[in-house]
Amino acid sequence: MSDVSKPVRLSKAAREFNLGVETIVDFLASQGIEVERKPNTKLEPEHYALVRANFADEKVAKQKAKQKSKTLLEMEALAVDSKKATTEEAVEPAPEPTPEPAPAPEPAPAPEPEPTPEPEPVAEETPAEEEAPVEPAKEEKAKSESTVKVVGKVDLDAVEPKKKKAAAKKEEPAPAEPEAPAAEAASAEDEPKKDPAEPEAEVVRAKAEKLTGPTVVGKIDLPVEKKPTTAGEKRKRKRITKVDVEAAGQEAGKRGRTVTGAPRKEISDKDIQKEIKETLARLSKGKKTQASAKTRRAKRDAKAERAEREQLAQMEAAHTLELTEFVTASELATMMDISVNEVISACMSLGMMVSINQRLDKETIGIIAEEFGYGVDFVSAEVQEAIEVELDSEDDLVARPPIVTVMGHVDHGKTSLLDYIRNTNVIDGEAGGITQHIGSYSVELEDGARMTFIDTPGHEAFTAMRARGAQVTDLAIIIVAADDAVMPQTKEAISHAQSAEIPFLIAINKCDREESNPDKIRTELAELGIQVEEWGGKTQSQEISAKTGMGIPELLEKVTLEAELLELKANPEKRAVGTIIESSLDKGRGYVTNLIVSAGTLRIGDAMLAGQYSGKVRAMTNERGEQLKEAGPSTPVSVLGLDGAPNAGDEFHIFEGEREARTIAQKRQQLQREQGIRTQKQVTLEELGRRIAVGEFKELNLIIK
Ligand code: GTP
Ligand code: MG
Repeated sequence: MSDVSKPVRLSKAAREFNLGVETIVDFLASQGIEVERKPNTKLEPEHYALVRANFADEKVAKQKAKQKSKTLLEMEALAVDSKKATTEEAVEPAPEPTPEPAPAPEPAPAPEPEPTPEPEPVAEETPAEEEAPVEPAKEEKAKSESTVKVVGKVDLDAVEPKKKKAAAKKEEPAPAEPEAPAAEAASAEDEPKKDPAEPEAEVVRAKAEKLTGPTVVGKIDLPVEKKPTTAGEKRKRKRITKVDVEAAGQEAGKRGRTVTGAPRKEISDKDIQKEIKETLARLSKGKKTQASAKTRRAKRDAKAERAEREQLAQMEAAHTLELTEFVTASELATMMDISVNEVISACMSLGMMVSINQRLDKETIGIIAEEFGYGVDFVSAEVQEAIEVELDSEDDLVARPPIVTVMGHVDHGKTSLLDYIRNTNVIDGEAGGITQHIGSYSVELEDGARMTFIDTPGHEAFTAMRARGAQVTDLAIIIVAADDAVMPQTKEAISHAQSAEIPFLIAINKCDREESNPDKIRTELAELGIQVEEWGGKTQSQEISAKTGMGIPELLEKVTLEAELLELKANPEKRAVGTIIESSLDKGRGYVTNLIVSAGTLRIGDAMLAGQYSGKVRAMTNERGEQLKEAGPSTPVSVLGLDGAPNAGDEFHIFEGEREARTIAQKRQQLQREQGIRTQKQVTLEELGRRIAVGEFKELNLIIK
């Protein structure tokens, strides 16, 4: 203030009057004085005087505010440790203007009593600026010594390092000269001291309050901010060390310490190890249980085997279960004379949860029965339903006509052959009689012998029926067109006959045609392993023409010969038994069933069971539509009276009462429905996947809505 002889730095002046550097520069500019717009710019003494004259009020206000804050700080400092207070302050004022940290530690009483030192430090300050930053400290010391010895000494010691800190901080905003800020700090401190003495103004109190507010809050805030952080750090460190210790205990100590930087990793490692240990423990346990399960299973198997052997030794025949695939768990248990629970637990060991009344698979029944030492004989529902089979005595058996099935590829002439045979062998000359296609024909040959023929459709869709036809038949004629070749269905027909162990003849048809090449057919047959008679083989063959009739008598001769070898006989006196050939629904007559009686005699009024259908035989006709009252063995007839259309290949039986037949038919229908449901259930996507994997399914036909 008093010193106007020496130049003053712009920044110092700004602080002194609580102004911005800009304000001072602008003010001087307005006075016509151009000054460099830098904090380190030195103001000429006359310029400084100008500034001071203009901004004296601001300086007074600043001093007042400082005064207030000082008194407040002092009161707090009494309670709190002075050192702590200073450190906190040193940090706190960072955002605030630099001069504040210095006054905080200083005792409030100091400035009040001494108005004198004020001019001195300023005078000393200016020379100190160019020298080392230590000087201001010296000045202060001198100051404090001269004024208040007791309080000042203690404070100055504490302040000194802080001042340096403050100076270092100041360097950042104004890095040009390290000395200057230090000096300034000192001067800033000094000057406030002078001011509080001067102004006792009450007017500025409002401003002072404003400044006190923030400092108070700051005080409260700082410990809150610092404490948690320090505490957190401490805690963190503690945690780390704990982890380290534990880690060191478990692993190598070095490793644990090296990872201290990342405690999480350490934990996770530990966890992983734990997990591994636990998993291993579990695995070993599992192994144990598995092993025990194995031993148990082995024991059980051994037991079952032993039991099986014993039982088989005792009575082999008695331990075969005759059943359909639709028995329930309880039924199976009853049959094996064991508890249902045993069956259920056996099912569970197979991975199946089964209830008492649940019907079991054929496969499952087989496995479970085997486990309990039983053999399983799966019989058709017919036998299961205890259909009485009348046994024939030798005396009752009478020779019967052979049943001959004609098989072969499409359009190779099956129907043509049968037509020719029928037409040339019409009994009673009833050539004009209505010929009904019933798929089977009874033919009386020239020598009076009869023969029954079954025609099979050549279409692939009837493969199943052909297979059944092969079972019905005694003999087979496999027809091959000489102008064609051995075709897929020819091969199929041969394999059917072979698998059914039915003797068959080869009829090489269409030999009237010029393109025909019978030798080619014979060669192809030889390739299939069928050596024809002409070529020294066992299989009889005949070149024929269904069109001209060439070779047909010879063919029939050979068939007769073959049939004689079979010595076919049947008992015509018993209730009829036979096979369904075809069935259809006729609008006027109801269900028409074509069948062949294989044994016994079928009569009108018989209670018939065919497949899942039953009924009373209302009418019977032969292939020419003639009404028949009875049909003996090997006779093909068309029957009316069944309540449904049984499948081709189904067997038919005659019962004493219609009710009996109906009961069984209903049971079969039920079984059929169950089977239908079961098969529907099986075609889930899982099941489909399994079947595809097994190779059962090659393609899936879908309708996409
Ligand atoms: P599908 O019942 O469809 O399997 O045929 P298929 O084996 O019964 O043959 P089908 O008797 O219907 O005869 C087919 C065609 O071959 C008919 O046009 C017959 O006229 C003809 N055909 C059958 N046999 C002969 C034959 O010996 N000579 C000549 N030239 N043509 C024949
Ligand atoms: Mg045909």
